[in-house]
Amino acid sequence: MIKVYGNKIFHLSDGKFSYAFYIEDGNLYHSYYGRALSIDGAHAEKSVLAGDGHKGNDWASFEIGEQGRGDYRIPSVVLRSSGMTATDFKYVSHKIIKKPDIGMPAMRGDAETLMVVLRDNAAHAELVLYYSVYDGALVRHAEVVNLSGEAVTLCVLDSACTELPMGEYDCVSIGGRWGQECVVDRSAVAPGIRKISSTRGFSSHQHNPFAAVVSKDCTEDSGEVYAVSLIYSGNFAIRLERDEKSQLRFNAGIELMEGGIMLAPGEKFVSPEAVSVYTCHGLGDMSRCYHRLFRKHLIDPRFADKIRPIVVNSWESVYFDFDESKILEFIDGAKGLGIDTVVLDDGWFGHRDCDNSSLGDWYVDKRKLPNGLKPLIDRCKSNGMKFGIWFEPEAISRDSDLYCAHPDWAIASDGRDAIEMRNQLVLDFSKPEAVDFIFKSMSKILGEYDISYVKWDANRYIADIPDTKKYIGCISGLYDLYRRLSEKFPDTLIEGCASGGGRFDPAILYYSPMIWASDDSDAVERTKIQYGLSLVYPLQTMSNHVSTCPNHQSGRLTPFATRGAVASLGCLGYELNIAKLDASERSQIKDQVEAYRRDAELIINGELYRLCNPLCDGAFCEQVTSADGKKAYVVFVRMLNTVNLPLKKIKLKGLREDALYTVKERNAVYTGAELMYAGIMPHAENDFGSEVLHVEMQR
Ligand code: DGJ
Repeated sequence: MIKVYGNKIFHLSDGKFSYAFYIEDGNLYHSYYGRALSIDGAHAEKSVLAGDGHKGNDWASFEIGEQGRGDYRIPSVVLRSSGMTATDFKYVSHKIIKKPDIGMPAMRGDAETLMVVLRDNAAHAELVLYYSVYDGALVRHAEVVNLSGEAVTLCVLDSACTELPMGEYDCVSIGGRWGQECVVDRSAVAPGIRKISSTRGFSSHQHNPFAAVVSKDCTEDSGEVYAVSLIYSGNFAIRLERDEKSQLRFNAGIELMEGGIMLAPGEKFVSPEAVSVYTCHGLGDMSRCYHRLFRKHLIDPRFADKIRPIVVNSWESVYFDFDESKILEFIDGAKGLGIDTVVLDDGWFGHRDCDNSSLGDWYVDKRKLPNGLKPLIDRCKSNGMKFGIWFEPEAISRDSDLYCAHPDWAIASDGRDAIEMRNQLVLDFSKPEAVDFIFKSMSKILGEYDISYVKWDANRYIADIPDTKKYIGCISGLYDLYRRLSEKFPDTLIEGCASGGGRFDPAILYYSPMIWASDDSDAVERTKIQYGLSLVYPLQTMSNHVSTCPNHQSGRLTPFATRGAVASLGCLGYELNIAKLDASERSQIKDQVEAYRRDAELIINGELYRLCNPLCDGAFCEQVTSADGKKAYVVFVRMLNTVNLPLKKIKLKGLREDALYTVKERNAVYTGAELMYAGIMPHAENDFGSEVLHVEMQR
């Protein structure tokens, strides 16, 4: 619902949150964000929506933060024209419209949208703010148009500027490093400025484009949360400033870096969308809200809410070292286990025997696969499975035919040798001809062969970029390639990946309904990563594989059952040499796959409750419950055991108090209230032991 009172007070609400601002002297003052307010129209102009009379530029709450006019906090828009960065955007008009297409991944659906136009007549520029109301979120983006006859530089254009009243807050974010992505950080918002950002050309392993400002008393189940998630895969910045009065400004947007971006006369810049979620019911409720929103409005409807194929991937089995007979053996190994798709990972193209060559040469390496991919695909088919393949579309190796033909397509700064990471360079996707070439090369393989699944990898960050425009151009090229391939091969599922979870962001999810969460395939390590990811991303987006033992990254020995249980909380797959397993391991895989198929509908579409935090509880426990509260699937994993372990019950959530539930594994019946308020003792007392519980309401 969007209501406008007296042509100057704006109230946006989904019935659970309210967001309000008003116009005075042409300025847009922010007046309220929090629990829904039901406002009687007649009373609106005297209500909190109309503000509290607090107008000094230094402290007032604004819809935009500007520079040079006495507001010294972090700006949300900075435009440099004629050497000046001071702006004074004044209200011009507003309209309620259908949600516009912004030409990049964005929330889907016809949400009611408020468009507010502002103009700075001295800077000759227009600023347009967009607010779309979804059930559970306020989605914002902004545009700047250069109306002058000269080039201007846009230095900052945030998608959302959120003002919070004086208070003590914590900031919750997710980030880390390769192999340790999305670990949760919660720290106090101290006086001054804090920035969560990436300038790596990718949303990155280091920081995810998400942050939540929470009240000090916030837990999984209670307390206030103001969260933002940015639908963008490139450089971004989420900035927070706690001012001298302990008010908070909280901005999220694309990072335009030092030099900003030049706008020619008449040129427009459109920011990506920021999805803001408010709740007073804690971080668990915030997550369930993002999960519902992303399942319904972000993930491609062709795949959302559908069980993803169960794959076995060749990477950790054979790495680059394979030939036709090895892969045929691998495919035969997968036969009869219930696996849907065999994915051939890196190393099938050009002359790639290690990571230093062939990226860009997307044709089959006849040394390894003299008969092409056909025998592999035929063997998959005769074994009742499908075939998937790996690409790294944005990369180019110096040792490649593509580089010999087009050395200028590799990103390099003038006069310097381009730096290599993982022995490779980055293709300049701001060049349409480079994108077109890769589209044709990939289309040739996908058109010639029956391939139902693509793993889209990206193994290095962007560097050597002369200006922000090129960074943005590379991401636009990436989205363009994704769009064209998705249109041409609508039934092919594209799994996202960037050295693991280096680009696990909402914009990639728009095209890739699942993303490889980390190159760390150790189940125990994965509990931390999956826990962190679950803050924002639904389980149905996490690509999780059961890997071999000892694990290749950590060397850890983990029970097969625990590896299966952790991987089941998302899109189950396998990453081990399926041709070399013993009978017991094969039968465990068969059982895991069958069990997963029975539970998958619930896991993919259920409501997630985090019951233990692996970072501090010595255990990991997640529960997925059906929306009607009739069924739950619980996975518990013990970290290290201790002698005389103090045992703590796990308390389930989201059930019906008075209903009777069977806990299958215990052959016992409890009321919902017993399970939720008294709890149930987990049976997993050895190192890395686990337990899976199926809870079902009796008819
Ligand atoms: C990084 C990915 O995350 C791995 O799963 C694997 O595909 C390798 N790249 C292949 O080079």
